[in-house]
Amino acid sequence: MADKVLEVKNVSKTFTKDGVMFGAVKNLSLEVYAGEILGIAGESGCGKSTLSRLCMGLLKPDEGEIYVCGKRLGRSTFKELRPAMQTVFQNPGDTFNPSYTVGSGLFEAGRSLGIGKDVCKKRMTELLSLTGLSESVLKRRPKELSGGQLQRLAIVRALLCEPKILIADEAVSSLDVSVSANIINLFSDLRDRLGIAVMFISHDLGVIGCISDRVAVMYSGEIIEIGRAEKVLGSPEKEYTKRLLMA
Ligand SMILES: Nc1ncnc2c1ncn2[C@@H]1O[C@H](COP(=O)(O)OP(=O)(O)OP(=O)(O)O)[C@@H](O)[C@H]1O
Ligand SMILES: [Mg+2]
Repeated sequence: MADKVLEVKNVSKTFTKDGVMFGAVKNLSLEVYAGEILGIAGESGCGKSTLSRLCMGLLKPDEGEIYVCGKRLGRSTFKELRPAMQTVFQNPGDTFNPSYTVGSGLFEAGRSLGIGKDVCKKRMTELLSLTGLSESVLKRRPKELSGGQLQRLAIVRALLCEPKILIADEAVSSLDVSVSANIINLFSDLRDRLGIAVMFISHDLGVIGCISDRVAVMYSGEIIEIGRAEKVLGSPEKEYTKRLLMA
C-alpha cells in the first residue's frame, strides 16, 4: 500500500460573517496517498480553499488533527513539515516578484527553504527540463512570460524542496483551455515520475475528471461523496453530485 502522505482527521473550522458564526469546514476527514491525485470538487464557497489552507498549516483547525507524513501538523512541527507540502495557486503571476527575474525568485525561494545555491541550481535545471521549459526563461521577469510558462515556473518553485504533496488550488482556472490541458498533463506526469501526491482543487468538474484518481465532492464544508473518479463522476450516488455534473 502506498504511503499515506496527508491525513485530515475530523477537522472543523469556523468563521464569523456579519457577527454570525458558520462552519467553513465541518468534521472533515480524508487521506491522500503517495502517487495519487485526489480531486476536490464543489461550488464556490463550499470550503475548498479553507481546507487547503488548513492542510498547509496556514489556518489552525478549531477541532481535529492534520498529519503530514505521519507527523501531526502544528506550531511546533510547521517549519519541519513545510518542505513536505507545497502549493500552486490560481494566479501564477503572484508567485514571483515582478521586479526580479524568475531565476532570482527561484534562488530566493530555495534560500528561504534552506536549500544551498549549488543544490538549488542543479534542481532548477532538472525541474525546468521536467516541466518543459528552457533555461533561458530564468533571465526573464514575470511580465515577459506567458501564463502557462509562469504556472510551470510556479510548479518548479513548489518542487524545489522535493515535497511529498502538492496542493493545487484552482491552479489551471486562470489559464486558457489548451494551456490548462498542458498543465493538467504536467501534474499527471509529476505523479507518475516523482510519485508525488497531489490534492487538486477545482470548481470545474471537467478538469477534475481529467486529472483525478479519486474525487471528493464538498458541499457546505463537508465531503458528501468520495471514491474512484470514474465511480463518483460516472455513476454518483448523491443527488448533489448529479446536479453538479449537470450544471
Ligand atoms: N478568513 C476568513 N474569514 C471569514 N470567512 C472566511 C474566511 N475565509 C473564507 N471564508 C468564508 O468561508 C467560506 C468558504 O470559503 P472558501 O474560500 O474556502 O471557499 P471555496 O470553496 O474555496 O470557494 P471558491 O471556489 O470561490 O474559491 C466562504 O463563505 C468564505 O466567505
Ligand atoms: Mg477557493
